[in-house]
Amino acid sequence: MLDTIEALHTEGLETLRAVEQPAQLPEWYRTYLGRKGKLTEALRGLGALPADQRPAAGKRVNEVKEALQAAFDAHQDALKAAELEASLATGAVDITLPGRPVAPGHLHLSTRTLRRIREIFAEMGFQVYEAPQVETDENNFGLLNIPPYHPARDMWDTFWVDDQVVLRTHTSPGQIRCMREHHPAPIRVILPGKCYRYEQITPRSEHQFFQVEGLAVGHGIRFTDLIGTLRAFTRKMYGEARRIRIRGSYFPFTEPSVELDMDCMLCGGSGCRVCKHTGWLEVAGAGMVHPVVLANGGYDPAEWSGFAFGMGLERPAMLHHRIEDIRYFYNNDLRFLQQF
Ligand code: PHE
Repeated sequence: MLDTIEALHTEGLETLRAVEQPAQLPEWYRTYLGRKGKLTEALRGLGALPADQRPAAGKRVNEVKEALQAAFDAHQDALKAAELEASLATGAVDITLPGRPVAPGHLHLSTRTLRRIREIFAEMGFQVYEAPQVETDENNFGLLNIPPYHPARDMWDTFWVDDQVVLRTHTSPGQIRCMREHHPAPIRVILPGKCYRYEQITPRSEHQFFQVEGLAVGHGIRFTDLIGTLRAFTRKMYGEARRIRIRGSYFPFTEPSVELDMDCMLCGGSGCRVCKHTGWLEVAGAGMVHPVVLANGGYDPAEWSGFAFGMGLERPAMLHHRIEDIRYFYNNDLRFLQQF
């Protein structure tokens, strides 16, 4: 019995030494040390020995088992180290190569346009007032002189959160917030931000878009102040050669109300596909703040006056950069975004 154990010991070590591939290791392990391996078998054979020989034989079997286990562990480590060394030698990792540069991103076209607009109005003394995108029906409509069931509500397709709360359909409710916060001090602010309308999404309309609202409230503010401000803005934003045009319009929160157009920056007013051969592009809705709205904001319309305007951000940017589909602004396609 002891002879068999010693033979197993020698055989095990020899066959282990012959193993050159790590993949062959489990096979060797099963043969010698596994549950059905040769050493387990030898252990089982102990029962057949006369009682006085059993302790010595049992001890030896366990010693051999431990020795083989240790040899196995060492051999496994050696094979792994050799494998790593070989892969380093042939894989030729050149640690002196410079790293791959991380592509730096840049600001989204909407953000850049918005920043430019903020800059221009900052030069004219306008501060920025941020108002929430989720608004009360009261601020979005009611206090802007658009009571429930007023037909003017049809101008704004609305996402309702509940009966009293909407995603703001324009930045104008910020006028109310700003006036209520600052009265009776004079105001000169722009209110930029995201707006939402329940719209069919097409190349020309999205259900989310940016607007920039403007509001000035003070003593003796006149319609010509509004025109002058918008003209200065248009020229700074789109070039000194721009001409503007004022058309009568209607908004419940301004009186009088106008639309501001500028001559088409692509054809210079002679007419092209972009301006639909009219020579003019829409820039903003505007007007003098309605007395009811001034009063709702906390200003006595007998003493105070003001102007307001609201312009979209994406449409003019589309014309400026000849972008054909408004959906590009929101679908995060790098091929589009990288162009600006
Ligand atoms: N809120 C209007 C719109 O979204 C634009 C506007 C703002 C008009 C301020 C007049 C004054 O259509």
